[in-house]
Amino acid sequence: MKQRYVTVLCFSVLLPIILTGQTVNAQPANSIQILNLMPLPQSITTDTGILVIDARFYAGFDGTHDSRLNAALDRLLHRLDRECGGIRRAQYEGGASAANVLLLKVAGPGGVVQGVDEDESYSLTITAQLAVLDAATDVGAIHGMETFLQLITTSNGECHLPAVTINDAPRFPWRGFMLDVSRHFEPVDVIKRTIDGMAIAKLNVFHWHLSDDQGFRAESKKFPRFTEAASGGMFYTQDQMREVVAYARARGIRVVPEFDMPGHTSSWLLAYPEIGAGEDIRALPTVFGIPQAELDPSNEKTFKFLDTFVGEMSEIFPDAYFHIGGDETAGKGWIENPRIAEFMKKQSLKTPADLQAYFNRRLLPILAKHGKKMMGWDEILNPELPRDIVIQSWRGEASLSQSAEQGFTGILSAPYYLDAQKTSAEMYLADPVPANTKLTADQQKLILGGEVCMWAEQIDPETVDSRVWPRTLAIAERFWSAQSDRNVEDMYRRLRVASLELEDAGLTHISGPERLRRNLWGSANPEVLEVMASVVEPVSFSDRYQGQHTDALSSLDRLVDAVVPDPPARVEIAREVNEVLAHPDSDDATAAELELRGRFAAWQRVSPELEAAALRSPRLSDLEMMAKQLGALGTMGLEALADLHLRTRAQAGWKDAQIATIEAAGKPSGLVRFVFLPAMRKLVEAAAMAPN
Ligand code: ACM
Repeated sequence: MKQRYVTVLCFSVLLPIILTGQTVNAQPANSIQILNLMPLPQSITTDTGILVIDARFYAGFDGTHDSRLNAALDRLLHRLDRECGGIRRAQYEGGASAANVLLLKVAGPGGVVQGVDEDESYSLTITAQLAVLDAATDVGAIHGMETFLQLITTSNGECHLPAVTINDAPRFPWRGFMLDVSRHFEPVDVIKRTIDGMAIAKLNVFHWHLSDDQGFRAESKKFPRFTEAASGGMFYTQDQMREVVAYARARGIRVVPEFDMPGHTSSWLLAYPEIGAGEDIRALPTVFGIPQAELDPSNEKTFKFLDTFVGEMSEIFPDAYFHIGGDETAGKGWIENPRIAEFMKKQSLKTPADLQAYFNRRLLPILAKHGKKMMGWDEILNPELPRDIVIQSWRGEASLSQSAEQGFTGILSAPYYLDAQKTSAEMYLADPVPANTKLTADQQKLILGGEVCMWAEQIDPETVDSRVWPRTLAIAERFWSAQSDRNVEDMYRRLRVASLELEDAGLTHISGPERLRRNLWGSANPEVLEVMASVVEPVSFSDRYQGQHTDALSSLDRLVDAVVPDPPARVEIAREVNEVLAHPDSDDATAAELELRGRFAAWQRVSPELEAAALRSPRLSDLEMMAKQLGALGTMGLEALADLHLRTRAQAGWKDAQIATIEAAGKPSGLVRFVFLPAMRKLVEAAAMAPN
């Protein structure tokens, strides 16, 4: 999202029907679409037979393994037991000849500190007797275990896996997820369950945005005022940060800390004004935006301070990269400070951007001294920096190509801002290296992958999961799977299954919003509200920002917080409408038509109740306009279906009136928007054309 603030400025229980002997690269053939893998592996060959998972099942190692792998296998057995029941939680100790066994053959543990070049490949061969998971490193084996779990299906109360051979490796080595914990703090248990979700998605970098204007969240023993004065008591102790790093490593995930500088540093300057450009910060700003608060690059004390701080944090975070932020530094405080303005003149630095580049150049040897490479948002792109820094492209995709053209390594984030509230499909189709890229083969190699970004102005621990999941799975597939895997319909089919897997693993993206809606409605069974909630989604970050100035203290408990982005009804209604329109000559109502009729009738039914509740309860007042509109849209849908079914042409003027209603309903109200309007428009237009 360009310039965030300037605007206001199966679980199928069927036995898989799999044609055998097929090798599938990238796009799944129809015959094996029944598999629920996400992300899709690079290659699958199917065979006959199934491996039954029952009380005889064991899993164990063929060869060496370390404690990380042992723990990973214990977790696999635990999850297998939860899904299938009756699984012994003991690891197999025998030779390779036993039946009903998952054998892991792992050549070595991988990097002591996982690097960008870690070998993450694995192969998984399943026959009716045996599953063998081969990997060069623990990390590859950990990914393969997730694939193993996703292959399980249940029929007649029996768990089994299809006979397949999978050869798999990620397309991109950097598959990240960024979480802002400054604007709203997220406790350690939220971080851990997020990492659990990342492991299922085969993501491998947790980018932890630990400081921003609204709070400094990392304990420093050298600089204790960071958390004493500038965290509101909400921060991670050093032990907790180490615990998160270990938790992530156990799941094949690197942790890259971000300490945003030289802008977005109100929290720094509240604690240590002596390294600032002179702004008088008296309290943490609760209002979001770009406050005037910058570190002072003209002061040697600033770099001495940073040397000590980076050194301390480097002992906690072993990753090769240290994210210095670098975004949205307007530099107004620099220009307004005569001493800094004089310094710029002396150094021939004409603009704040030049001074920021100077700051970054000074930071480089400090990072290098502590064994770190620099990473930053795309504002840090500057020809005077070494080419092995990582540029994180967020202000549009062009900045990624620009950095690759100049020889810098980079990752893409611009299309993956979750708070833009785009659909899974839109984000899925955005590719760090699209098929029509103009970059040369060498330049393409500089693009390491991408990161999903979750900023925290409009989320809190109650709502974070529903903003992140399941959409992040779709993006994770873009980072892992082949460029040619672009079947959106099949992606959504698998996303529904994997979404349940995530909830089962402890994420609350389904149960959390359900709980919020029960509270909002004040009843254990808010069935009426559920009808509305299933067909609306939050407006984008900037629309919400304009409509409701949340700040760090606002409670996030409105309708917008209790509904989910891209709810399943969006694609379901579109599919049902397409099916109805594809069978114009059918005299019998199709299943799709019956579904639609049921939906439209429910909209009509709940509309008066929702409207009454909106008038009665201030907490539900966001619903008022939408409630009226939902009823009208239900009536419209039923009329359109009747016209189509009876093949009558709608009365003159009907279509124009309906389109006007659809357009009015397209304007968000109460910070939410309907998700089915394009499909409704299509239905209305078809009905208006039905022959007499
Ligand atoms: C950013 O969104 N300011 C990196």
